[in-house]
Amino acid sequence: MNLLEERIRKDGVVMEGDVLKVDGFLNHQMDVRLFQAMAEEWKRLFAGCDINKILTIEASGIGIACIAGLTFDCPVVFAKKTKTRNIAGDVYRAEVRSYTHNNISEVIVSKKYLGAGDRVLLIDDFLANGAALAGLMELAAMAGAQVIGAGIAIEKAYQPGGKLLRERGLRIESLARISAMDESGRIEFIS
Ligand code: G4P
Repeated sequence: MNLLEERIRKDGVVMEGDVLKVDGFLNHQMDVRLFQAMAEEWKRLFAGCDINKILTIEASGIGIACIAGLTFDCPVVFAKKTKTRNIAGDVYRAEVRSYTHNNISEVIVSKKYLGAGDRVLLIDDFLANGAALAGLMELAAMAGAQVIGAGIAIEKAYQPGGKLLRERGLRIESLARISAMDESGRIEFIS
Protein backbone atom coordinates (compact mmCIF):
# COMPACT_ATOMS: atom_id res chain seq x y z
CA MET A 1 0.00 0.00 0.00
CA ASN A 2 1.74 3.09 -1.29
CA LEU A 3 0.25 5.49 1.23
CA LEU A 4 1.67 3.58 4.18
CA GLU A 5 5.04 2.99 2.50
CA GLU A 6 5.34 6.69 1.72
CA ARG A 7 4.52 7.56 5.33
CA ILE A 8 7.11 5.11 6.62
CA ARG A 9 9.71 6.65 4.29
CA LYS A 10 8.73 10.14 5.44
CA ASP A 11 8.29 9.65 9.19
CA GLY A 12 9.69 6.21 10.11
CA VAL A 13 13.03 6.10 11.88
CA VAL A 14 15.19 3.00 12.04
CA MET A 15 16.61 2.68 15.54
CA GLU A 16 19.35 0.44 16.82
CA GLY A 17 18.25 -3.08 17.64
CA ASP A 18 16.33 -3.46 14.38
CA VAL A 19 13.39 -1.36 15.55
CA LEU A 20 11.41 0.81 13.17
CA LYS A 21 10.00 3.73 15.12
CA VAL A 22 6.62 4.74 13.75
CA ASP A 23 5.19 6.36 16.84
CA GLY A 24 4.42 9.63 15.07
CA PHE A 25 1.57 8.06 13.10
CA LEU A 26 0.98 4.41 14.04
CA ASN A 27 1.47 3.40 17.64
CA HIS A 28 1.67 6.45 19.87
CA GLN A 29 0.29 9.47 18.02
CA MET A 30 -2.18 7.88 15.61
CA ASP A 31 -3.13 9.12 12.14
CA VAL A 32 -6.67 7.83 12.05
CA ARG A 33 -7.21 8.98 8.45
CA LEU A 34 -4.32 6.71 7.50
CA PHE A 35 -5.91 3.93 9.60
CA GLN A 36 -9.14 4.47 7.67
CA ALA A 37 -7.33 4.05 4.34
CA MET A 38 -5.64 0.92 5.69
CA ALA A 39 -8.97 -0.49 6.87
CA GLU A 40 -10.52 0.17 3.46
CA GLU A 41 -7.69 -1.72 1.80
CA TRP A 42 -8.24 -4.73 4.10
CA LYS A 43 -11.96 -4.48 3.40
CA ARG A 44 -11.21 -4.68 -0.34
CA LEU A 45 -8.77 -7.57 0.12
CA PHE A 46 -11.13 -9.56 2.35
CA ALA A 47 -14.29 -8.74 0.36
CA GLY A 48 -16.84 -11.52 0.46
CA CYS A 49 -15.20 -13.25 3.43
CA ASP A 50 -18.10 -12.53 5.83
CA ILE A 51 -15.88 -11.35 8.65
CA ASN A 52 -17.97 -10.78 11.76
CA LYS A 53 -15.27 -10.09 14.35
CA ILE A 54 -11.90 -8.43 14.58
CA LEU A 55 -9.37 -9.74 17.06
CA THR A 56 -6.24 -7.88 18.05
CA ILE A 57 -3.78 -7.76 20.94
CA GLU A 58 -3.00 -5.14 23.53
CA ALA A 59 -1.69 -2.49 23.09
CA SER A 60 -0.67 -1.10 19.72
CA GLY A 61 -3.12 -3.12 17.64
CA ILE A 62 -6.16 -1.64 19.32
CA GLY A 63 -6.37 1.73 17.59
CA ILE A 64 -5.94 0.25 14.12
CA ALA A 65 -8.41 -2.53 14.89
CA CYS A 66 -11.06 -0.06 16.07
CA ILE A 67 -11.01 1.83 12.79
CA ALA A 68 -11.12 -1.49 10.95
CA GLY A 69 -14.13 -2.41 13.09
CA LEU A 70 -15.96 0.66 11.77
CA THR A 71 -15.13 -0.25 8.19
CA PHE A 72 -16.09 -3.92 8.58
CA ASP A 73 -19.03 -2.90 10.79
CA CYS A 74 -18.28 -5.57 13.38
CA PRO A 75 -17.17 -5.80 17.02
CA VAL A 76 -13.50 -5.55 17.93
CA VAL A 77 -12.05 -7.75 20.66
CA PHE A 78 -8.55 -7.33 22.03
CA ALA A 79 -6.58 -10.03 23.80
CA LYS A 80 -5.52 -8.68 27.17
CA LYS A 81 -2.00 -9.16 28.43
CA THR A 82 -2.07 -10.25 32.03
CA LYS A 83 0.63 -10.90 34.58
CA THR A 84 -1.56 -12.65 37.10
CA ARG A 85 -2.14 -16.30 36.35
CA ASN A 86 -5.20 -16.62 38.56
CA ILE A 87 -7.41 -14.09 36.90
CA ALA A 88 -11.02 -14.81 37.62
CA GLY A 89 -13.56 -15.67 34.98
CA ASP A 90 -14.15 -17.87 32.06
CA VAL A 91 -11.35 -17.07 29.64
CA TYR A 92 -9.24 -18.59 26.90
CA ARG A 93 -5.51 -18.22 27.57
CA ALA A 94 -2.39 -18.41 25.44
CA GLU A 95 1.24 -17.58 26.01
CA VAL A 96 2.95 -15.04 23.78
CA ARG A 97 6.71 -14.98 23.82
CA SER A 98 8.15 -11.66 22.72
CA TYR A 99 11.57 -12.10 21.16
CA THR A 100 12.05 -8.34 21.02
CA HIS A 101 11.28 -7.75 24.68
CA ASN A 102 12.53 -11.18 25.75
CA ASN A 103 9.56 -11.94 27.96
CA ILE A 104 6.45 -14.10 28.00
CA SER A 105 3.02 -12.69 28.58
CA GLU A 106 -0.17 -14.54 29.04
CA VAL A 107 -2.99 -13.23 26.87
CA ILE A 108 -6.63 -13.82 27.60
CA VAL A 109 -9.98 -13.38 25.91
CA SER A 110 -13.30 -13.87 27.63
CA LYS A 111 -15.28 -16.85 26.38
CA LYS A 112 -18.21 -14.46 26.09
CA TYR A 113 -16.60 -12.55 23.23
CA LEU A 114 -15.12 -15.23 21.00
CA GLY A 115 -16.78 -18.44 19.96
CA ALA A 116 -17.78 -20.99 17.36
CA GLY A 117 -19.46 -19.28 14.46
CA ASP A 118 -17.13 -16.29 14.57
CA ARG A 119 -15.30 -15.52 11.33
CA VAL A 120 -12.32 -13.60 12.56
CA LEU A 121 -9.90 -11.12 11.04
CA LEU A 122 -6.72 -10.70 13.09
CA ILE A 123 -5.25 -7.20 13.07
CA ASP A 124 -1.88 -5.97 14.35
CA ASP A 125 0.57 -3.17 13.73
CA PHE A 126 3.74 -5.24 13.26
CA LEU A 127 4.54 -8.75 12.15
CA ALA A 128 8.07 -9.71 13.07
CA ASN A 129 8.55 -13.11 14.66
CA GLY A 130 4.88 -13.89 14.57
CA ALA A 131 4.44 -14.70 18.25
CA ALA A 132 1.55 -12.29 18.70
CA LEU A 133 -0.37 -13.62 15.69
CA ALA A 134 0.32 -17.21 16.71
CA GLY A 135 -1.10 -16.45 20.17
CA LEU A 136 -4.23 -14.95 18.65
CA MET A 137 -4.63 -18.00 16.38
CA GLU A 138 -4.37 -20.22 19.44
CA LEU A 139 -7.10 -18.27 21.24
CA ALA A 140 -9.37 -18.45 18.19
CA ALA A 141 -8.76 -22.19 17.86
CA MET A 142 -9.67 -22.74 21.53
CA ALA A 143 -12.88 -20.80 20.96
CA GLY A 144 -13.75 -22.81 17.85
CA ALA A 145 -13.71 -19.58 15.84
CA GLN A 146 -12.53 -19.54 12.24
CA VAL A 147 -9.59 -17.31 11.41
CA ILE A 148 -10.17 -15.93 7.93
CA GLY A 149 -6.89 -14.09 7.79
CA ALA A 150 -4.68 -11.40 9.22
CA GLY A 151 -4.37 -7.73 8.33
CA ILE A 152 -0.97 -6.36 9.27
CA ALA A 153 0.23 -2.81 8.88
CA ILE A 154 3.99 -3.42 8.69
CA GLU A 155 5.61 -6.78 8.09
CA LYS A 156 9.34 -7.09 8.61
CA ALA A 157 9.55 -9.70 5.89
CA TYR A 158 13.16 -10.58 6.63
CA GLN A 159 12.06 -11.89 10.04
CA PRO A 160 10.55 -15.37 10.17
CA GLY A 161 6.95 -14.77 11.33
CA GLY A 162 5.30 -14.19 7.96
CA LYS A 163 6.84 -17.22 6.31
CA LEU A 164 6.13 -19.51 9.27
CA LEU A 165 2.48 -18.51 9.58
CA ARG A 166 1.81 -18.56 5.83
CA GLU A 167 3.22 -22.10 5.81
CA ARG A 168 0.66 -22.92 8.49
CA GLY A 169 -2.05 -21.75 6.08
CA LEU A 170 -2.77 -18.29 7.46
CA ARG A 171 -3.70 -15.70 4.85
CA ILE A 172 -1.72 -12.59 5.74
CA GLU A 173 -2.30 -9.25 4.05
CA SER A 174 0.48 -6.88 5.05
CA LEU A 175 0.14 -3.35 3.74
CA ALA A 176 3.86 -2.59 3.84
CA ARG A 177 6.45 -5.35 3.63
CA ILE A 178 9.98 -4.36 4.52
CA SER A 179 12.73 -6.47 3.00
CA ALA A 180 15.64 -4.60 4.55
CA MET A 181 16.33 -1.58 6.73
CA ASP A 182 19.25 -0.10 8.60
CA GLU A 183 20.18 2.83 10.77
CA SER A 184 21.52 4.82 7.83
CA GLY A 185 17.86 5.42 7.00
CA ARG A 186 17.65 2.83 4.21
CA ILE A 187 14.25 1.14 4.15
CA GLU A 188 13.43 -1.22 1.29
CA PHE A 189 10.00 -2.58 0.52
CA ILE A 190 8.76 -5.65 -1.30
CA SER A 191 6.34 -4.30 -3.88
P1 G4P B 1 5.83 -10.46 16.88
O1 G4P B 1 4.96 -9.35 17.44
O2 G4P B 1 5.69 -10.62 15.41
O3 G4P B 1 5.71 -11.72 17.61
O4 G4P B 1 7.35 -10.06 17.03
P2 G4P B 1 8.23 -9.73 18.31
O5 G4P B 1 7.99 -10.72 19.38
O6 G4P B 1 9.61 -9.58 17.81
O7 G4P B 1 7.64 -8.31 18.70
C1 G4P B 1 7.51 -7.88 20.01
C2 G4P B 1 6.85 -6.56 20.05
O8 G4P B 1 7.61 -5.56 19.33
C3 G4P B 1 5.48 -6.52 19.44
O9 G4P B 1 4.72 -5.60 20.16
C4 G4P B 1 5.73 -6.01 18.02
O10 G4P B 1 4.60 -5.41 17.47
C5 G4P B 1 6.83 -5.02 18.27
N1 G4P B 1 7.75 -4.82 17.16
C6 G4P B 1 8.46 -5.73 16.47
N2 G4P B 1 9.27 -5.13 15.60
C7 G4P B 1 9.06 -3.79 15.74
C8 G4P B 1 9.62 -2.64 15.12
O11 G4P B 1 10.48 -2.70 14.23
N3 G4P B 1 9.14 -1.44 15.53
C9 G4P B 1 8.17 -1.31 16.50
N4 G4P B 1 7.77 -0.09 16.82
N5 G4P B 1 7.65 -2.38 17.14
C10 G4P B 1 8.10 -3.60 16.75
P3 G4P B 1 4.13 -5.99 21.58
O12 G4P B 1 5.14 -6.60 22.47
O13 G4P B 1 2.94 -6.85 21.32
O14 G4P B 1 3.77 -4.67 22.29
P4 G4P B 1 2.85 -3.46 22.00
O15 G4P B 1 3.79 -2.41 21.50
O16 G4P B 1 1.83 -3.80 20.95
O17 G4P B 1 2.23 -3.17 23.29
